[in-house]
Amino acid sequence: MNDERKVLQVFKGETRFPPPIWLMRQAGRYLPEYRETRKRAGSFLDLCYNPELAVEVTLQPIRRFAFDAAILFSDILVVPHAMGRDLRFEEGRGPIMSPISPADVGRLDRERFHVNLSPVYETVRELRQKLPAETTLIGFCGAPWTVATYMIAGHGTTDQAPARLFGYRDPEAMKGLLETIAECSAEYLIRQIDSGADAVQIFDSWSGVLDEASFDAYCVAPVAAIVRKVKSVHPGVPVIGFPKGGGSRFDDYREKTGVSVLGLDWTVPLSQARRLQEGGPVQGNLDPMRLVAGGSALDSGVDSILEALGEGPLVFNLGHGITPETPVENVERMLKRVRGAWR
Ligand code: CP3
Repeated sequence: MNDERKVLQVFKGETRFPPPIWLMRQAGRYLPEYRETRKRAGSFLDLCYNPELAVEVTLQPIRRFAFDAAILFSDILVVPHAMGRDLRFEEGRGPIMSPISPADVGRLDRERFHVNLSPVYETVRELRQKLPAETTLIGFCGAPWTVATYMIAGHGTTDQAPARLFGYRDPEAMKGLLETIAECSAEYLIRQIDSGADAVQIFDSWSGVLDEASFDAYCVAPVAAIVRKVKSVHPGVPVIGFPKGGGSRFDDYREKTGVSVLGLDWTVPLSQARRLQEGGPVQGNLDPMRLVAGGSALDSGVDSILEALGEGPLVFNLGHGITPETPVENVERMLKRVRGAWR
């Protein structure tokens, strides 16, 4: 049955053309049916912790577009939330948390971690039953650094200055924080795989703001720890690393973390992407703004990726999440172009 799952096959190193496709944040506000379910759920977190509704919104883009993979509907910040940190999502502002202090790091509560996350495991189990057999199911977590940036600042920032300062001022606290998040995240991914996920993705959305030494200490080392732990239990399950803004450090990142697939953001030049693909499967990397713009900006972006990366293992995706203003008809246009491609 797994043989039919094209995304999984590519993650394991096969080449398929046209490439299979899914989109980061494919369940979200650009879909009217998502906005409807979201209203019914109450808050965004209520939606994340309600298996019935989380399954529903995960399936919505699969029904509408028949994407080749579904991604579990949840959020990266349920991990610190399950460790007892407070969390809420405010309309127009995003996530809000109480900033963690160095003294709080040793007090993170792991006792009820898996109990708190049991609705997520339930969602994964139900999804595997309800998804078409050929649809790959992707689980995920945030990379420790990216999760830590929200825990430290208490909200999103554009440069992650609070988290960078925290690390320079108190390297021991930072190390402890990242290690704790890494251990919990590895267990979290293992349970998602136990529940039916075919592959898992580690989102490091803020790795691009770090200097060389910090990149090694905050991005590479914790992700390597997660990969080691996950692979020790589930050696055959692909792990996708997405160090957004990783630039010239992608090669090193793959080698040192042991991730099996590289998720590429849209700033990665296609010549570099092609070289990276010689070392293993890649996923990406259309600029989400091309999808918003549509027309020839979209078509030429799609064609360039297919031309540069179509002859190797490629899962077509955006270079970051789809944004709420994306017209649904542009998604349809992109799918037609990718699926109708020939060479
Ligand atoms: O991809 C999917 O369809 C699965 C669901 C998913 C969500 N968040 C749902 C979501 C995934 C994989 C994430 C990951 C996530 N969450 C990341 C890493 C990837 C990235 O986008 O950089 C980060 C940094 C977060 C934290 C987060 N969650 C922020 C900063 C925000 C606010 C920004 C925004 O888009 O509103 C969220 C909220 C969020 N997570 C929404 C969704 C669908 C929108 C909230 C809503 O519906 O009201």
